[in-house]
Amino acid sequence: MKIAPSLLSCDFSKMGEEIVRMDKAGADWMHLDVMDGHFVPNITFGAPVIKTVRKYTNRPFDVHLMISDPLKYIDDFANAGADIITFHIECDSDIDATIEKIKSRGIKPGLVIKPNTPAWTVFPYLEKIEVVLVMTVEPGFGGQSFMENMLPKVREIKDECMRRNINILIEADGGISKDTIGQAADAGVDVCVAGTAVFKAADAEKAISQLQAF
Ligand code: DX5
Ligand code: ZN
Repeated sequence: MKIAPSLLSCDFSKMGEEIVRMDKAGADWMHLDVMDGHFVPNITFGAPVIKTVRKYTNRPFDVHLMISDPLKYIDDFANAGADIITFHIECDSDIDATIEKIKSRGIKPGLVIKPNTPAWTVFPYLEKIEVVLVMTVEPGFGGQSFMENMLPKVREIKDECMRRNINILIEADGGISKDTIGQAADAGVDVCVAGTAVFKAADAEKAISQLQAF
């Protein structure tokens, strides 16, 4: 399993150092949660902050946009150094245009679905994207409980990809820990985001390698 520590749980006063710490601890990707206070009831950071911390690692930056109009900001996040940009299918931007815009900047596009959004909504886009992110909590905050009833959606997406011979990564985000990651792995998740489980661990390297072992 690939592990993407969510910087949402880091000490924001030393985000660069926290990225170095996660890099050394063996993180596969860095997960950056962008919230606009409109699409979700919380505000985090945007492209200028991501640009500032880009230099602290060569690991892929996995930028999760929880914003109402992602299309408007793709250039900003591309210029900030994003490698993967995932955005919500429930957003207000045109989905195809946003995917195309991300691709035009040489970045891997992905779609995210919230807990109440069915798996089939992403089916029309599977050929055009590289990641499907299934939220396993309501987006907006770290430290929530894993919703295991989201796992049938992972299986549905995986089955549809197999049926159509499409190779994309399935990512799960929210409530991932050593107690829940096994279920995600069994359902077919390829990449797990982990905030609390990694940043609040006494030994981040141990926490990451324990999760990667699944
Ligand atoms: C929630 C974010 C997650 C969150 C995960 O809206 O998308 O990335 O930070 O945090 P944990 O692992 O603590 O649930
Ligand atoms: Zn996230």
